[in-house]
Amino acid sequence: RTDLNGVDRLIVRRGQPFTISLYLRSGSYQPGISSLDCIAETGPQPSEQYGTRARFGLSSSIDTSTWSATVTSPPGDMVALSICSSPKAPIGRYTLTLGQSEKIEFILLFNPWCPADAVYMDNEQNLAEYVLSQDGIIFRGSSKHIIPTPWNFGQFESGILDICLRILDMNPKCLRNPGKDYSGRRNPIYVTRVLSAMVNCNDDKGVLLGNWTDGYEGGVSPLFWRGSVEILRNWDTQSCQPVRYGQCWVFAAVACSVSRALGIPCRVITNYLSAHDTNSNLVIEHYVNENGELIQSRDMIWNYHCWVESWMTRPDLKPDFDGWQASDPTPQEKSEGVYCCGPIPLRAIKEGELTFKYDAPFVFAEVNADVVTMMKKKDGSTSKVTTIGLVGQMISTKSVGSDSREDITHLYKYPEGSDEEREAFTKANHQNKLLQQNPDPGLHVTIKVTPDMRKGCDFDVFAVVTNHTEGEKKCRLVFGSCAVSYNGFLGGNCGFKDLLNVQLPPGAGERVPLRLNYSKYGGQVTEDNLIRLAALLHDYSTGQAKLAMRNIVLDNPEIKVRVSTVPFLCHTFQIFFFFLQMYIYFLPLFPLFSFVLLLCRSISQHSNTVIVMSNQTLSA
Ligand SMILES: *[C@@H]1O[C@H](CO)[C@@H](O)[C@H](O)[C@H]1NC(C)=O
Ligand SMILES: *[C@@H]1O[C@H](CO)[C@@H](O)[C@H](O)[C@H]1NC(C)=O
Ligand SMILES: *[C@@H]1O[C@H](CO)[C@@H](O)[C@H](O)[C@H]1NC(C)=O
Repeated sequence: RTDLNGVDRLIVRRGQPFTISLYLRSGSYQPGISSLDCIAETGPQPSEQYGTRARFGLSSSIDTSTWSATVTSPPGDMVALSICSSPKAPIGRYTLTLGQSEKIEFILLFNPWCPADAVYMDNEQNLAEYVLSQDGIIFRGSSKHIIPTPWNFGQFESGILDICLRILDMNPKCLRNPGKDYSGRRNPIYVTRVLSAMVNCNDDKGVLLGNWTDGYEGGVSPLFWRGSVEILRNWDTQSCQPVRYGQCWVFAAVACSVSRALGIPCRVITNYLSAHDTNSNLVIEHYVNENGELIQSRDMIWNYHCWVESWMTRPDLKPDFDGWQASDPTPQEKSEGVYCCGPIPLRAIKEGELTFKYDAPFVFAEVNADVVTMMKKKDGSTSKVTTIGLVGQMISTKSVGSDSREDITHLYKYPEGSDEEREAFTKANHQNKLLQQNPDPGLHVTIKVTPDMRKGCDFDVFAVVTNHTEGEKKCRLVFGSCAVSYNGFLGGNCGFKDLLNVQLPPGAGERVPLRLNYSKYGGQVTEDNLIRLAALLHDYSTGQAKLAMRNIVLDNPEIKVRVSTVPFLCHTFQIFFFFLQMYIYFLPLFPLFSFVLLLCRSISQHSNTVIVMSNQTLSA
C-alpha cells in the first residue's frame, strides 16, 4: 500500500509483513538451527522502554501483533526473510540491524488496512478517498451559495513524506525531549495534536503564517494556492521559515496532506456560519447601533470555517468515541498554552461531552453557539434584538469517490430544535433561557435575494416585511449593507436605506428593495466577494426591534470560450482574435501563452470544444 510513494526506497506500513532477500556470504540457512538477531530502532535515543527499539529473532511463523521475522524460502544461500512490525510501533524512519552488521533503512507508516492499527478503516472506497486520493474538493462560499474549490493534496509527490517527517522533528515537544516524542509517534491522537500545532507557525517553526488582512504584502494571497505541495516544499527549502500566507482552508488542506502522507485517514470539512466564541460562554454576542449598523465585536461568526477530521480509535476515552475526530490547525485560541485544537471525537460534540479531550468547548461552540444580537442605544443602554440559532450550517465534505458534496451536519449535532439537540446543549452546561424569551410582536422581517448577483453588476436585494398584527402600528425600517471578509471582519458600507414610516397591509408582505451599485460596493468588497446585509425593523409602539441578517457571495464574471465546427481557416482566425482580445484585457494579470497552447492542442483533437471557467481559475 505504499507504491504511490515510489519504489526507490523501502516504505512499509505497520503490522503488515514485508520480505527482503538475504544473500549469505558463507554457509547456508538451516531451519531450526540458524539464528538471526534483528534490531529495529527509530529516533535519536532508541529504547525498549519507550517502544522505539525492538529486538527479535527468527520464529516459525509471522506474528502480526508484534515485531517478528521468519524465513519463507527453502534452505540455500539465498534467504527470503519476512519481517513484520508491531501495529503499535512508532511511525517514522527506522534502521533494521540484521546479525552483526547488516543495516537496512526503511520508513514505517500508519496502516489503516490493518485491523490491529488504531487508524483501521474497514471500507476500501473510504480508504481510496481518505488515504490514497491526492486531490479533493474544499467547499467555500456561503451556506446559501456553496463554492467547491479543487485542491491538490499531493501527499505522494516526491519529497513530501520526508517533509512531513521533518515537521514532526521540528515540533517543540521533539526538540525538548526527542526520546519521548518519538515514542509518542505510535499514537495517532498524539501525532494529530502535534500536527494541529505545527501547520500554523504560532509558537513554533510551523508551516504557514496566517493573514486575514487584504493586500498580503510580502507573501502570497491564500486564495492563490491550489495545492499543498508547493507550500510544503517552500517551507522545507526556506529552512522551516513559515510560508506566507494561509487562511483556514489552506491550514486544513496542508494538515490533511500530512495526515494522509503518514497514513492517517483524513478529510477537510467546511462549517458554514462557524462561531468563534472568544469568551467560552457558548453565546456569540453581536451588536448593532440604532441605525442598524453592525459594530465589530470580538466574538465572530465566520461565513465558513474549515478544519480536518481524522479517523482513529480513542482508547483514552469512554468506549464508543472511536471514528472521526475533529482537529483544527488554524490558529484561533490557545489550548494548553499552544495554538492547537483537538482531536475531539465528533460524537463528543454531538452529545455535548465538553469535558472530553481535546478542546471540546471550542469546537462545540463553532457548530452550536447561540447568537444574540444586542442593540446599543445612544444613551449607552443595550437591548436584545433577536436570537437566531443559525450557527453551524451545512457542514460539508467531498463525497467518497465523487466530486459532489456530502452533508455531515448530523455527525456534529442533532436536528436543529430537536429534544436531543437541546439536551446536548443543556448537558453542555448552558442554560438556554434566551431562546424562549423573545415574545413575538407580529411584525417580521427577512431578507431575500435573487440568484443572479455578479461582481461588476448592479442588483437589488430585498427586505421582506410582513404584518401579522391586528392593531395600528407604525414602524421604521433601516436596511444596510457592508463588505465583510470570510472570517467576519466588517468593511465599508455598500449601500443604505432608512425608511421612517413603513405602512404595511394586514397579513401581507412588503418587499423593500435596496440597490447595490457596483460603483459603490466595487471598492469595498474584499477578495472574498462577500457582503453582509442587515435589515432592522423598529416598532414605534412597543420600542422593540427585529433584525434580519444575511451574507451574500458575489459570483466572479464567467468567461465562456466557445469553439464551433467551422472551416479550419475561419476557425483559427476567430480564435486568434479572441485570444488577442483576451490577452490585452488580462495583460496585467498573467501570461496566457501556455493556456493558448493547451487550448490549441485540445482544439486540434476535438472539433467542437466548449470551455467555461471563471477568471479566478484562469489567473491560477
Ligand atoms: C499581512 O498582510 C498585510 C497587508 O499586506 C501586511 O501589512 C502584514 O504585515 C501581514 N501580516 C503579517 C503577520 O505578515
Ligand atoms: C445606485 O445608482 C442609482 C442610479 O443609477 C441611484 O439612483 C441609486 O441611489 C444608487 N444607489 C446607491 C445605494 O448608491
Ligand atoms: C398592520 O396591519 C394592521 C391591520 O391589520 C394595521 O392596523 C397596522 O397599521 C399595520 N402595521 C403596519 C406597520 O403597517
